[in-house]
Amino acid sequence: MAQTLTIAHLTDVHLGPIAGFTARYWNLKRALGYANWRRNRRLAYPRDVLDRIVADLAAQAPDHIAVTGDLTNIGLPQEHINALTWLRGLGAAERVSVIPGNHDIYSRLGRDPGTARWAAYMASDVPGARHADHGETFPFVRMLGPVAIIGVNSAVPTPPLVALGRVGAAQIARLATILERLGRAHVFRLMLIHHPPLTGQARRYRDLVDAGALEAVLARHGAELVIHGHNHRNMLAWCRTTAGGKVAVVGAPSAALGRPHKREPLARYNLYRIAGPPWTIELTGRGLEQPGGPIVELERKLLS
Ligand SMILES: [Fe+2]
Ligand SMILES: [Fe+2]
Repeated sequence: MAQTLTIAHLTDVHLGPIAGFTARYWNLKRALGYANWRRNRRLAYPRDVLDRIVADLAAQAPDHIAVTGDLTNIGLPQEHINALTWLRGLGAAERVSVIPGNHDIYSRLGRDPGTARWAAYMASDVPGARHADHGETFPFVRMLGPVAIIGVNSAVPTPPLVALGRVGAAQIARLATILERLGRAHVFRLMLIHHPPLTGQARRYRDLVDAGALEAVLARHGAELVIHGHNHRNMLAWCRTTAGGKVAVVGAPSAALGRPHKREPLARYNLYRIAGPPWTIELTGRGLEQPGGPIVELERKLLS
């Protein structure tokens, strides 16, 4: 019998305030990021807006929540600790999956565990580990009935004013094996990544440098849905597969933006109702239509 699963997608919450920015962590990149947060982000991403989005999301009772990175601003240990507290409020690790964004892996942290503090939220579960089949953290695979959540990490430390991402050849090779294996098992493959995964989807120095190689793997092995953040925009693209299919690639805006900022859409999250096989995907966007307004349904459409 066909099953229906609902997965919520939240991204780029950029939690404030920035705490623990001590001399030990001072460098030019973090100083610029801190100044930007003080001047812009602190006011644009107020916590009460995110709290209302999360309450609305909880009322929809999704089966799982995917958070695609940029939980923090300048990737400090205290921000990772605060983000872990926020994640725990969102739900237990079995119900929430997370991948890091470029603001979470921002600049080198030495021996500090950094985003590894979120390990419970970004590790393969027991059935998924069979598919992931490797000692590395990424991609992780979490099995949710007929749906596999495949978490890819695109975040790497970068120089000042650079927000690019890199998946890396080794992770792309592991991803290819995972997609191939799960495709053969007729599982719904939901891939999470922070940066938009296709070539030309982000500006230079903000883009995924190995998007070409990743796109080739998606085209060759397919997936049922890819969701991402990073651009803080509503995005929908299709990746054509060599088998003649196409993969929906959907980007969501920040779930925390409370007021006009760089012409980005206001706070929003997406809900995916997945039914099948044969698979159908219904996308519902909920969020703010205007600053201070109620959270309403913004969009509803079928992706397949
Ligand atoms: Fe972001
Ligand atoms: Fe980002």
